Amino acid sequence: MNAPKVSVLLQSNWAEAGLVTDVRRGLGSQPRTLPPKWLYDEAGSRLFDEITRLPEYYPTEAERTILRDAAADIAATSRATTVVELGSGTSDKTRLLLDAFADVGRLDRFVPVDVSEEFLRQAADLLAARYPDTSVEAVVGDFTLHLGHLTRYQHKLVVFLGGTIGNLYVEERGAFLGALADSMDAGDELLLGTDLVKDADRLITAYDDPGGVTEAFVKNSLRVLNRELDADFDLDAYSYVPFWDRRMQRMDLRLRAEMPQHVSIPGADLELDLASGEEIRVEISTKFTEDRLRAELQAVGLEITRTWTDPTDSFAVTLARKST
Ligand code: SAH
Ligand code: AVI
Repeated sequence: MNAPKVSVLLQSNWAEAGLVTDVRRGLGSQPRTLPPKWLYDEAGSRLFDEITRLPEYYPTEAERTILRDAAADIAATSRATTVVELGSGTSDKTRLLLDAFADVGRLDRFVPVDVSEEFLRQAADLLAARYPDTSVEAVVGDFTLHLGHLTRYQHKLVVFLGGTIGNLYVEERGAFLGALADSMDAGDELLLGTDLVKDADRLITAYDDPGGVTEAFVKNSLRVLNRELDADFDLDAYSYVPFWDRRMQRMDLRLRAEMPQHVSIPGADLELDLASGEEIRVEISTKFTEDRLRAELQAVGLEITRTWTDPTDSFAVTLARKST
């Protein structure tokens, strides 16, 4: 049996310690925010998986279409023997790429990296069974903290799919791309999925499904705070407010207190008073243009070698190479 190896880089009190810092910094000041990595406890990961199957949420299928077309070319031209995947989730679409690498006999190692440990372990088991000749080395880690771990892998292709890079704030994105480029050798490659700027109505529909799955996913952040920090958020007192921020070119997903709320968060030693109508920004999802992406990648020494888009130009997958 090809059992996966699992390295845990998150300390046992990571969620607790990191969440306390983020909650004090983010919820204790204006505008009130929460970093999105706290959306992915087990329930959150399950809800995201459900989102990917909603007809309104086009990014998953658009990216799958692209990968279906491009995977064989990528595997044929890449010199990589290790594929690393950041924010891998179920690695569902990634299998198209891994199949193509396995077909050309060059998939020595697959390294999925995610904070969501249970999901990652399940995915690693399935992948190890599917690719018996590949060493599956899963990393329970935070891609905003642990990219230094990747320097041990030579000849690598780093895959970052789903548009997850868009969930980072602009300054976090710059730091992330810098650290990612530092973890790569000259010739290593990045395969990056990004959602593209488009019509506001289509975007809002994708983040405001009638069945309320996206709302449940965003509200789950309050459930995480209630469970982990003994907070007393009343989920029913908040409404979900998704909107398109044209200036920042991002979806902005918020929860609005519909009446004044006093919230105790004992685990973070914090008391909050939210006025009626006050909002908490739970997640952003930035959308890109090809020019903006090229400039941001170039700034860290990553040169685009190829870009694919789906037939509706909704989503892009970009291959870039570390130049020096
Ligand atoms: N790549 C998959 C999943 C995208 S959902 C797809 O394209 O469908 C985003 C994933 O990133 C989740 O699995 C979540 O647990 C993970 N994630 C979010 N923030 C993270 C972080 N800081 N470090 C590592 N993984 C993170
Ligand atoms: C994971 N990430 C790319 C998703 C997105 O579209 O920004 C998360 C999501 N949030 C609400 N719906 C989907």
